[in-house]
Amino acid sequence: MKRVLTPARFAAHSLRLRFLLAILLWVALGIGGIWYSATRVFTRHIEAQYHDELYGHVRELAGLVNISKDSHLSLSRPLSDPRYLEPMSGYYWQVSVHRGDRIHSASMVRGEIDEDIAHSPEIFHSIDNGPTGKTIAYGFTGFTPDGRVVHYVIAVDKRYLDQAIASFTRELTLWLTALATALLITGYAVVLFGLRPLNRLATAIGQLREGTSARLEGAYPSEIAPLVEDLNAYIAGNEAVIERARVEAGNLAHGLRTPLAVITDEAERLARQPESARAARALLDQAHEMVQQIDFRLARTRSAAGARASLRVSHLPEAVLPILSAMRKLHPDCAFELSAPVPVRMAIDPVDLSELVSNLLDNAGKWARRRVVLTIAEGPRIRVEDDGPGMSEEQIARACEIGSRFDADMPGSGLGLAIARDIAEAYGLRLRLSSPPGGGLIADLV
Ligand SMILES: Nc1ncnc2c1ncn2[C@@H]1O[C@H](COP(=O)(O)OP(=O)(O)OP(=O)(O)O)[C@@H](O)[C@H]1O
Ligand SMILES: [Mg+2]
Repeated sequence: MKRVLTPARFAAHSLRLRFLLAILLWVALGIGGIWYSATRVFTRHIEAQYHDELYGHVRELAGLVNISKDSHLSLSRPLSDPRYLEPMSGYYWQVSVHRGDRIHSASMVRGEIDEDIAHSPEIFHSIDNGPTGKTIAYGFTGFTPDGRVVHYVIAVDKRYLDQAIASFTRELTLWLTALATALLITGYAVVLFGLRPLNRLATAIGQLREGTSARLEGAYPSEIAPLVEDLNAYIAGNEAVIERARVEAGNLAHGLRTPLAVITDEAERLARQPESARAARALLDQAHEMVQQIDFRLARTRSAAGARASLRVSHLPEAVLPILSAMRKLHPDCAFELSAPVPVRMAIDPVDLSELVSNLLDNAGKWARRRVVLTIAEGPRIRVEDDGPGMSEEQIARACEIGSRFDADMPGSGLGLAIARDIAEAYGLRLRLSSPPGGGLIADLV
């Protein structure tokens, strides 16, 4: 089934990501909240200021208007704000007598303001048909000496208010984006700092796996110190259990060897008597198989491969040099060559590595005509190659079974490859045998 990687699932995979998502949400909420409330407050504030200004202007206007006896309107002097003089500036006033005279600011070269506005005590925010678009308008009414209604109206283009708000919002957005970025960066730094002990723990576990340390080293914060202590106790307990099991397995194997030797002796004696020869052969075969099993298990209990807790590192080619010199003595007719262009580290106990490689080299030495090459390459990878007769596909398939032997002339117990494969698998490696068409056998450890 295909698993969809939702943000929650993604966050579950990485503690760092989980914190980062939380910080992102936190910063977005905080900065978003500030942005929203600041623009609201500013809008309200600047609107109030506009209204005050308009109110002042309309009162000044009312003070400057002279109404003659025949309801004729005139202005004693222009309004103090010069924007009322500039044509189409966006600042307009208008005074009109109901069905009578009408005067307006010099700025209003065309158009008219709806005089009904003056009847409302409200400030109109959006009068669509102002001289230059939408306006904010305000006004009040008065009376001529003969009792007719006079309308005093002021209208200011709404765009001035909108522009002020937009420019404030733009600047605020810029500053808040910078602040959010700074908060996210510092948040990330805080997360990295906070998670440092966990990184150290990961390194310590890596060292444990590689075998460069036997327990989790270092001081940890109080939140994870108990976990580290528990892990160390668990590792120590595990090692003790494995060690005990290895000793017990060894004891059991040794304990079985003596009775088996007695049984074999007896069976050989019986085999010489014709009447019991058949049964004795069966006993001998079974006893032989038991001895093989015991030898195999004994060899394996000596190994550290079963004890994963005590993994250690082997440095190549140094670790195989003693084996090579031993092999040169054991098989003097054969030339053992080593090709190791770069030093390689392998997470495998040196004793296990020796046992594994010596089994492969011993076979190569036994069956090679003249030459055996041991290659160590980055990977890490070990290859043992000889120029002997090699093996058939079918033999290769069975070669790693306990007791498999295909050459009766050569001494051996058929355990070498079984042990080699067992060790390799205990360390997650694979032993691959192949016979090239030209002869010889290649054993690869990958
Ligand atoms: N390099 C090789 N060339 C040809 N045949 C080989 C080679 N290596 C192994 N074999 C064959 O595979 C069989 C199994 O090898 P293995 O190492 O398990 O046993 P052994 O060498 O016979 O005995 P032991 O290693 O236990 O002393 C050998 O008997 C041999 O027939
Ligand atoms: Mg062998």
